[in-house]
Amino acid sequence: MTVTIVGSQLGDEGKGGVVDLYGDAADVVARYQGGDNAGHTVVYDGEKYKLSLVPSGAVRGKVGVLGNGCVVNPETLFSEIDGLRERGLEPDVRVAERAHAILPYHCVLDGIEEDAKDGLAAGTTKRGIGPTYEDKAGRRGVRIGDLLDPETLRTRLEYVVPQKQALAEEVFGIETGEEFDVEYLYDTCLEYGERLAEEEMTVDAGTFLQERIDAGENVMLEGAQGTSIDIDHGVYPYVTSSNPTAGGACVGTGLGPTVVGSGDVIGIVKAYLSRVGTGPLPTELGGVEGQTPAYEGGDDSPEEELATYIRNEGGEYGTVTGRPRRVGWLDMPMLRHAARASGFTGLAINHIDVLAGLEEVEVGHAYEFDGEEIFTVPPTTEKWGRCEAIYRTFEGWDEVDWRAVAEEGYDAIPDNAQTYLEYIADELDTPIYAIGVGPAREETIVLENPFDA
Ligand code: IMP
Repeated sequence: MTVTIVGSQLGDEGKGGVVDLYGDAADVVARYQGGDNAGHTVVYDGEKYKLSLVPSGAVRGKVGVLGNGCVVNPETLFSEIDGLRERGLEPDVRVAERAHAILPYHCVLDGIEEDAKDGLAAGTTKRGIGPTYEDKAGRRGVRIGDLLDPETLRTRLEYVVPQKQALAEEVFGIETGEEFDVEYLYDTCLEYGERLAEEEMTVDAGTFLQERIDAGENVMLEGAQGTSIDIDHGVYPYVTSSNPTAGGACVGTGLGPTVVGSGDVIGIVKAYLSRVGTGPLPTELGGVEGQTPAYEGGDDSPEEELATYIRNEGGEYGTVTGRPRRVGWLDMPMLRHAARASGFTGLAINHIDVLAGLEEVEVGHAYEFDGEEIFTVPPTTEKWGRCEAIYRTFEGWDEVDWRAVAEEGYDAIPDNAQTYLEYIADELDTPIYAIGVGPAREETIVLENPFDA
């Protein structure tokens, strides 16, 4: 069977921890979209591993697959694998031959296009994600399978690289270097291909995964980023260039929707909001310069203080970029939209410990939009920017020994926090499978393990 993990907000909901937890019962963990823009930290045997591309299950001896919907920077892939090997692990990572390769010119273009966007920049991670998906859709990409085929590789590079060079030099006016040199790229790509072949890493992802499922194995499909930065269902254009929603799990692995739909689809929810990047955020507290629209620096208002408190308690600084994240109250219209778009069968709610100690906790229950009350996210980002949150106030809960709570189980969670959790589950009409009360694995209360069902 499959279990699909989907971020229900803006990324950084704590998906890694849930994948890690349920991944114990999985034989294979496959990513279906994104690339090395996704930062996840896995704590295993007291050691911390920071990964951005390799599926986190690979740390625990699972087979890790990068599906065809991923964009793969071979440099990152090899350096993460080498890093794990240096620490005594033997990661088994497979890469779809249909996945697209992020090449050096994509990374250069990501930076200069963002700088040129002025006002429309998404605040990307500058890992070349958007330019690579652009080339995929424009039918001029280089796929992982091409790296193993010198003749095809040369044809592809000779076609695309001069176009990219002209774009960089003539449209953006920059001087280009080896990143835009066909011969340099050809040699580099051949080296990538040789290593992929030597280590027998490439697969036809759909066939590989289906065979494992047919053999009775458990497959976890690990989404990166979150619903509100999905290219179709998010705050376009301030989005990533792929589909973190559950439909992406089919297209991005080669498994059919009936296969994915016959398993569980778990929405990962952070108990408040955090966001790296630009675009509207109706429940935002305070702001972050360069990311919050029209924000020109903080003051010492109670709202800014609260934002700083939550940011520090929650460690809300980007795993990949180190940037401070914007923070806000939980946004129910955003969650209703996510639950519908992915058809969640269960929820994992994280970080309720971060809100402990606050007198009151607010939730954006609905929006006021042009004088009307609405309960989900409007379809255009401009309309979303005009929404004002209508809040519900919950009584806060005290700081407690969360490890002890995790050991004792659900009933040990402070009553007010239980009320908050039950409100979320009721509004989304979806049961809670797990509650995260701290960063470590032992700090999660598991109510349901989908692989046991
Ligand atoms: P890109 O994915 O690097 O193209 O960035 C596009 C947008 O998605 C930016 O606003 C990024 O901050 C955001 N983003 C990309 N990956 C992540 C992630 O893993 N967590 C949170 N935000 C992300």
